[in-house]
Amino acid sequence: MITGKLITFEGIDGSGKSTQIKLLEAEFEKSGISYKTFREPGGTKLSEKIRAMLLDKENIELYSNAESLLFAAARAQLTAEQIKPALTKGECVICDRFTDSTIAYQGYGRGLNINKLELMNAIATDGLIPDVTFILDIDPEKASERMQTEAADRMESGGIDFFQKIRQGYYQIREQNQSRCIVINGEKSQKDISEEIHHIIMERFKKELSCSY
Ligand SMILES: Nc1ncnc2c1ncn2[C@@H]1O[C@H](COP(=O)(O)OP(=O)(O)OP(=O)(O)O)[C@@H](O)[C@H]1O
Ligand SMILES: [Mg+2]
Repeated sequence: MITGKLITFEGIDGSGKSTQIKLLEAEFEKSGISYKTFREPGGTKLSEKIRAMLLDKENIELYSNAESLLFAAARAQLTAEQIKPALTKGECVICDRFTDSTIAYQGYGRGLNINKLELMNAIATDGLIPDVTFILDIDPEKASERMQTEAADRMESGGIDFFQKIRQGYYQIREQNQSRCIVINGEKSQKDISEEIHHIIMERFKKELSCSY
């Protein structure tokens, strides 16, 4: 039986996902809520190897379908090996990217067929759907300014137009999954965003999370 909560963070590169996850972890620690955090692609030995392949600049010949299947393979391993067992134990699972990244990046960003990607996602997760998804929304120009000192990897070399498409894609995802997805203004201060996210989680899962205090 699955009892834990799966909380996913989405948004374009540099939108503040990792920053907010660190802040949420601190809140969970304060409250004694047990959790595990994973980043996608990654989180298992195999998935980290796949991550290295996907981010490697040498892989410039990687075709879109191959890219999507590699993401799906990494996700399938992570879901079966780590996420489902943790949820079954009643732990909260925080994911830095999950299924929506495939739809936003490969679907809306690269133009692959969204129905097929959704099927691929369903196979990878064996039907597991996040309990809540925070989409950190930010102007791609601003996100890129934030990241200027950080090394650009293959994923980031797509240009502002690519990230505009992904941003719009996330709006579509939100329209189609209104009860699960919450768009957060990622341009606010780290503290304001963190408080908003923490508040939403406690409101939604008050009963389930309070038993671990
Ligand atoms: N609310 C904020 N206001 C200003 N700067 C921020 C904010 N949140 C994060 N940053 C800064 O923006 C940069 C990118 O943030 P972060 O690494 O959390 O984004 P990310 O969404 O995890 O990016 P990636 O997809 O590349 O992993 C970091 O330098 C971080 O300190
Ligand atoms: Mg990050």
